[in-house]
Amino acid sequence: MSLKKVRIHHFKEMKQRGEKITMLTAYDFPTAKAFDAAGVDMLLVGDSLGDNVLGYDSTVPVTLDEMIPFARAVSRAAERAFVVADLPFGTYEVSPEQAVESSIRMMKLSGAQAIKFEGGRRVARQVKAVTDAGIPFCGHLGFTPQSENALGGHRVQGRGEQGLQDLLDDALALQEAGAFAVVLEMVAAPAAEAVTKALDIPTIGIGAGSSTDGQVLVWLDMAGVGDWHPRFSRQFGAVGAEMTNAAAGYVQAVKGVEFPAAEHTFES
Ligand code: KIV
Repeated sequence: MSLKKVRIHHFKEMKQRGEKITMLTAYDFPTAKAFDAAGVDMLLVGDSLGDNVLGYDSTVPVTLDEMIPFARAVSRAAERAFVVADLPFGTYEVSPEQAVESSIRMMKLSGAQAIKFEGGRRVARQVKAVTDAGIPFCGHLGFTPQSENALGGHRVQGRGEQGLQDLLDDALALQEAGAFAVVLEMVAAPAAEAVTKALDIPTIGIGAGSSTDGQVLVWLDMAGVGDWHPRFSRQFGAVGAEMTNAAAGYVQAVKGVEFPAAEHTFES
Protein backbone atom coordinates (compact mmCIF):
# COMPACT_ATOMS: atom_id res chain seq x y z
CA MET A 1 0.00 0.00 0.00
CA SER A 2 1.33 3.42 -0.97
CA LEU A 3 0.62 6.43 1.24
CA LYS A 4 0.33 8.72 -1.79
CA LYS A 5 -3.04 10.50 -1.85
CA VAL A 6 -5.41 8.82 -4.28
CA ARG A 7 -6.42 11.27 -7.04
CA ILE A 8 -9.10 11.13 -9.70
CA HIS A 9 -6.70 10.14 -12.53
CA HIS A 10 -5.55 7.07 -10.59
CA PHE A 11 -8.89 5.30 -11.14
CA LYS A 12 -8.62 5.25 -14.94
CA GLU A 13 -4.98 4.14 -14.60
CA MET A 14 -6.07 1.31 -12.28
CA LYS A 15 -8.69 0.20 -14.81
CA GLN A 16 -6.10 0.25 -17.60
CA ARG A 17 -3.62 -1.90 -15.67
CA GLY A 18 -6.33 -4.24 -14.34
CA GLU A 19 -5.89 -3.31 -10.66
CA LYS A 20 -9.18 -3.62 -8.76
CA ILE A 21 -10.44 -0.45 -7.07
CA THR A 22 -11.66 -0.78 -3.48
CA MET A 23 -14.43 1.38 -2.04
CA LEU A 24 -16.27 1.20 1.29
CA THR A 25 -18.89 3.41 2.80
CA ALA A 26 -17.88 5.42 5.89
CA TYR A 27 -19.93 7.87 7.90
CA ASP A 28 -17.69 9.02 10.76
CA PHE A 29 -14.11 9.95 11.69
CA PRO A 30 -12.84 6.80 13.50
CA THR A 31 -14.29 4.39 10.94
CA ALA A 32 -12.91 6.44 8.04
CA LYS A 33 -9.48 6.53 9.75
CA ALA A 34 -9.48 2.74 10.12
CA PHE A 35 -10.42 2.18 6.46
CA ASP A 36 -7.93 4.79 5.24
CA ALA A 37 -5.17 3.00 7.20
CA ALA A 38 -6.30 -0.32 5.67
CA GLY A 39 -5.61 1.02 2.17
CA VAL A 40 -9.18 1.44 0.90
CA ASP A 41 -8.93 3.56 -2.27
CA MET A 42 -12.27 5.38 -2.05
CA LEU A 43 -14.52 6.21 0.90
CA LEU A 44 -18.17 6.76 0.06
CA VAL A 45 -20.29 8.86 2.39
CA GLY A 46 -23.40 7.21 1.05
CA ASP A 47 -26.97 8.21 1.71
CA SER A 48 -27.17 4.63 3.04
CA LEU A 49 -26.41 6.71 6.15
CA GLY A 50 -30.23 6.87 6.36
CA ASP A 51 -30.92 3.17 6.94
CA ASN A 52 -27.51 2.25 8.45
CA VAL A 53 -26.89 5.08 10.92
CA LEU A 54 -29.93 7.33 11.31
CA GLY A 55 -32.50 4.57 11.73
CA TYR A 56 -34.71 5.44 8.71
CA ASP A 57 -36.23 2.56 6.79
CA SER A 58 -34.77 3.75 3.46
CA THR A 59 -32.50 6.44 1.98
CA VAL A 60 -35.46 8.55 0.81
CA PRO A 61 -35.84 10.79 3.92
CA VAL A 62 -32.13 11.77 4.10
CA THR A 63 -31.46 15.51 3.60
CA LEU A 64 -28.38 17.39 2.42
CA ASP A 65 -28.06 19.06 5.83
CA GLU A 66 -27.98 15.63 7.48
CA MET A 67 -25.30 14.35 5.09
CA ILE A 68 -22.84 17.25 5.39
CA PRO A 69 -21.50 16.77 8.97
CA PHE A 70 -20.87 13.05 8.29
CA ALA A 71 -19.11 13.82 5.00
CA ARG A 72 -17.01 16.45 6.76
CA ALA A 73 -15.92 13.96 9.46
CA VAL A 74 -14.92 11.37 6.84
CA SER A 75 -13.01 13.96 4.77
CA ARG A 76 -11.07 15.04 7.85
CA ALA A 77 -10.02 11.45 8.50
CA ALA A 78 -8.96 10.51 4.97
CA GLU A 79 -5.25 11.03 4.45
CA ARG A 80 -4.89 8.71 1.46
CA ALA A 81 -8.37 7.70 0.33
CA PHE A 82 -10.44 9.67 -2.19
CA VAL A 83 -13.73 10.78 -0.61
CA VAL A 84 -17.02 10.69 -2.54
CA ALA A 85 -20.22 12.14 -1.04
CA ASP A 86 -23.77 11.28 -2.12
CA LEU A 87 -26.40 13.86 -2.92
CA PRO A 88 -29.62 12.61 -1.30
CA PHE A 89 -33.05 12.26 -2.94
CA GLY A 90 -34.64 15.59 -3.85
CA THR A 91 -31.44 17.64 -4.08
CA TYR A 92 -30.55 17.28 -7.79
CA GLU A 93 -33.47 15.92 -9.86
CA VAL A 94 -35.28 19.21 -10.52
CA SER A 95 -32.70 20.92 -12.74
CA PRO A 96 -28.99 21.21 -13.59
CA GLU A 97 -28.95 24.40 -11.48
CA GLN A 98 -30.27 22.52 -8.45
CA ALA A 99 -27.66 19.78 -8.94
CA VAL A 100 -24.81 22.30 -9.21
CA GLU A 101 -25.98 24.27 -6.16
CA SER A 102 -26.29 21.12 -4.03
CA SER A 103 -22.92 19.80 -5.25
CA ILE A 104 -21.15 23.08 -4.52
CA ARG A 105 -22.71 23.20 -1.06
CA MET A 106 -21.58 19.64 -0.33
CA MET A 107 -18.05 20.21 -1.70
CA LYS A 108 -17.51 23.49 0.17
CA LEU A 109 -18.88 22.36 3.53
CA SER A 110 -17.65 18.76 3.60
CA GLY A 111 -14.24 18.77 1.91
CA ALA A 112 -15.22 15.70 -0.16
CA GLN A 113 -13.40 15.26 -3.48
CA ALA A 114 -16.35 14.13 -5.60
CA ILE A 115 -20.13 13.88 -5.76
CA LYS A 116 -22.30 10.88 -6.57
CA PHE A 117 -25.99 10.76 -7.37
CA GLU A 118 -28.31 8.21 -8.93
CA GLY A 119 -29.60 7.81 -12.49
CA GLY A 120 -28.44 7.69 -16.10
CA ARG A 121 -29.90 9.47 -19.13
CA ARG A 122 -32.59 11.10 -16.98
CA VAL A 123 -29.94 13.07 -15.05
CA ALA A 124 -27.33 13.45 -17.82
CA ARG A 125 -27.92 17.24 -18.04
CA GLN A 126 -27.34 17.52 -14.29
CA VAL A 127 -24.13 15.46 -14.53
CA LYS A 128 -22.81 17.63 -17.40
CA ALA A 129 -23.56 20.81 -15.43
CA VAL A 130 -21.80 19.44 -12.33
CA THR A 131 -18.69 18.31 -14.21
CA ASP A 132 -18.64 21.61 -16.18
CA ALA A 133 -18.52 23.34 -12.78
CA GLY A 134 -15.26 21.48 -12.10
CA ILE A 135 -16.71 18.91 -9.72
CA PRO A 136 -15.68 15.25 -10.14
CA PHE A 137 -18.76 13.04 -10.51
CA CYS A 138 -19.37 9.33 -9.90
CA GLY A 139 -22.55 7.80 -11.36
CA HIS A 140 -24.82 5.17 -9.82
CA LEU A 141 -26.87 2.76 -11.99
CA GLY A 142 -28.68 -0.55 -11.68
CA PHE A 143 -30.76 -0.80 -8.53
CA THR A 144 -30.88 2.80 -7.32
CA PRO A 145 -32.26 2.86 -3.76
CA GLN A 146 -33.67 6.41 -4.01
CA SER A 147 -36.02 5.11 -6.77
CA GLU A 148 -36.93 1.99 -4.81
CA ASN A 149 -40.64 2.87 -5.00
CA ALA A 150 -40.55 3.29 -8.80
CA LEU A 151 -38.45 0.15 -9.33
CA GLY A 152 -40.87 -1.99 -7.31
CA GLY A 153 -38.42 -2.93 -4.54
CA HIS A 154 -34.94 -4.47 -4.51
CA ARG A 155 -34.77 -6.05 -7.97
CA VAL A 156 -31.73 -7.14 -9.97
CA GLN A 157 -31.28 -4.84 -13.00
CA GLY A 158 -29.75 -5.33 -16.45
CA ARG A 159 -31.56 -8.60 -17.18
CA GLY A 160 -32.77 -9.42 -20.70
CA GLU A 161 -31.87 -7.69 -23.95
CA GLN A 162 -33.73 -4.49 -23.11
CA GLY A 163 -32.36 -4.39 -19.56
CA LEU A 164 -28.81 -4.64 -20.90
CA GLN A 165 -29.40 -2.01 -23.61
CA ASP A 166 -30.91 0.44 -21.09
CA LEU A 167 -27.98 -0.02 -18.74
CA LEU A 168 -25.44 0.47 -21.56
CA ASP A 169 -27.20 3.60 -22.81
CA ASP A 170 -27.31 5.05 -19.27
CA ALA A 171 -23.64 4.23 -18.59
CA LEU A 172 -22.49 5.74 -21.90
CA ALA A 173 -24.57 8.88 -21.21
CA LEU A 174 -22.84 9.30 -17.83
CA GLN A 175 -19.40 8.82 -19.37
CA GLU A 176 -20.25 11.33 -22.11
CA ALA A 177 -21.43 13.82 -19.46
CA GLY A 178 -18.03 13.64 -17.73
CA ALA A 179 -18.41 11.01 -14.96
CA PHE A 180 -15.08 9.55 -13.80
CA ALA A 181 -16.60 6.25 -12.55
CA VAL A 182 -19.96 4.47 -12.28
CA VAL A 183 -21.30 2.35 -9.42
CA LEU A 184 -23.36 -0.64 -10.63
CA GLU A 185 -25.67 -1.92 -7.89
CA MET A 186 -27.48 -5.28 -8.07
CA VAL A 187 -26.82 -5.78 -11.77
CA ALA A 188 -26.80 -9.19 -13.46
CA ALA A 189 -23.13 -10.17 -13.84
CA PRO A 190 -23.16 -10.49 -17.69
CA ALA A 191 -24.62 -6.98 -18.01
CA ALA A 192 -22.06 -5.55 -15.56
CA GLU A 193 -19.29 -7.18 -17.58
CA ALA A 194 -20.64 -5.75 -20.85
CA VAL A 195 -20.86 -2.23 -19.36
CA THR A 196 -17.35 -2.54 -17.91
CA LYS A 197 -15.99 -3.48 -21.36
CA ALA A 198 -17.92 -0.71 -23.11
CA LEU A 199 -16.69 2.10 -20.85
CA ASP A 200 -13.31 3.82 -20.67
CA ILE A 201 -14.09 4.91 -17.10
CA PRO A 202 -14.12 2.34 -14.27
CA THR A 203 -17.19 0.52 -12.97
CA ILE A 204 -17.49 -0.17 -9.23
CA GLY A 205 -19.80 -3.08 -8.47
CA ILE A 206 -22.00 -3.95 -5.52
CA GLY A 207 -23.89 -7.15 -6.21
CA ALA A 208 -22.70 -6.98 -9.83
CA GLY A 209 -20.28 -9.93 -10.01
CA SER A 210 -16.50 -9.95 -10.24
CA SER A 211 -15.91 -8.39 -13.68
CA THR A 212 -16.35 -4.78 -12.62
CA ASP A 213 -13.21 -2.64 -12.21
CA GLY A 214 -13.79 -2.30 -8.48
CA GLN A 215 -16.05 -3.28 -5.61
CA VAL A 216 -17.97 -1.31 -2.98
CA LEU A 217 -19.79 -2.53 0.14
CA VAL A 218 -21.69 -0.84 2.94
CA TRP A 219 -19.14 -1.12 5.75
CA LEU A 220 -21.56 -2.49 8.36
CA ASP A 221 -22.38 -5.41 6.01
CA MET A 222 -18.65 -5.94 5.30
CA ALA A 223 -17.60 -5.91 8.97
CA GLY A 224 -20.52 -7.94 10.36
CA VAL A 225 -22.17 -5.29 12.50
CA GLY A 226 -25.72 -6.57 12.16
CA ASP A 227 -26.82 -10.19 12.10
CA TRP A 228 -28.19 -9.80 8.55
CA HIS A 229 -26.38 -8.88 5.36
CA PRO A 230 -27.48 -8.87 1.71
CA ARG A 231 -26.76 -11.99 -0.34
CA PHE A 232 -24.22 -10.15 -2.49
CA SER A 233 -22.19 -9.05 0.54
CA ARG A 234 -19.74 -10.96 2.74
CA GLN A 235 -18.95 -10.49 6.43
CA PHE A 236 -15.18 -10.09 6.79
CA GLY A 237 -15.44 -9.71 10.58
CA ALA A 238 -17.82 -9.94 13.52
CA VAL A 239 -17.62 -6.35 14.71
CA GLY A 240 -21.19 -6.26 16.07
CA ALA A 241 -20.59 -9.30 18.30
CA GLU A 242 -17.24 -7.84 19.42
CA MET A 243 -18.93 -4.55 20.41
CA THR A 244 -21.60 -6.39 22.39
CA ASN A 245 -18.86 -8.44 24.15
CA ALA A 246 -16.91 -5.30 25.03
CA ALA A 247 -20.00 -3.53 26.38
CA ALA A 248 -21.06 -6.63 28.37
CA GLY A 249 -17.55 -6.80 29.89
CA TYR A 250 -17.82 -3.13 30.88
CA VAL A 251 -21.28 -3.62 32.46
CA GLN A 252 -20.01 -6.61 34.43
CA ALA A 253 -16.87 -4.80 35.64
CA VAL A 254 -18.80 -1.70 36.79
CA LYS A 255 -21.54 -3.71 38.51
CA GLY A 256 -18.88 -5.87 40.21
CA VAL A 257 -16.94 -2.76 41.32
CA GLU A 258 -13.88 -4.08 39.48
CA PHE A 259 -13.69 -0.98 37.31
CA PRO A 260 -12.32 1.63 37.79
CA ALA A 261 -9.31 0.06 39.53
CA ALA A 262 -6.40 1.87 41.23
CA GLU A 263 -4.61 2.48 37.90
CA HIS A 264 -7.66 4.34 36.54
CA THR A 265 -8.00 6.54 39.63
CA PHE A 266 -6.46 9.96 40.43
CA GLU A 267 -5.25 10.32 44.03
CA SER A 268 -5.12 13.70 45.81
O1 KIV B 1 -25.34 5.00 -0.32
C1 KIV B 1 -24.60 4.02 -0.51
O2 KIV B 1 -24.06 3.40 0.41
C2 KIV B 1 -24.37 3.60 -1.89
C3 KIV B 1 -23.68 2.29 -2.10
C4 KIV B 1 -24.63 1.18 -1.86
C5 KIV B 1 -23.05 2.20 -3.42
O3 KIV B 1 -24.74 4.30 -2.79
